[in-house]
Amino acid sequence: AFKVKIHSTGDLYDVPADQSISDVLESNGVFVAVSCEAGVCGTCQTGVLDGVADHRDVFLTTKEHEEGKLIMPCCSRSKSAVLELDL
Ligand code: FES
Repeated sequence: AFKVKIHSTGDLYDVPADQSISDVLESNGVFVAVSCEAGVCGTCQTGVLDGVADHRDVFLTTKEHEEGKLIMPCCSRSKSAVLELDL
């Protein structure tokens, strides 16, 4: 498990192994548009301000994955204990 931090509010939310980041955001009232929920469509793209994403999508390029500034929260996760999102 890891936590996501919402940049605009400073709120931290636990992301358990059986929930996606976008599921956790939705259940806490943080709006991120989702569509495919499989890392394909690009709808949920969100900026990463701190932490290291564990990319599981096929939407972003390899270069974007390496740069670490974007994440698809419907499917990707975090390698760091906290992932701060530009929300
Ligand atoms: Fe389609 Fe996340 S909802 S990539």
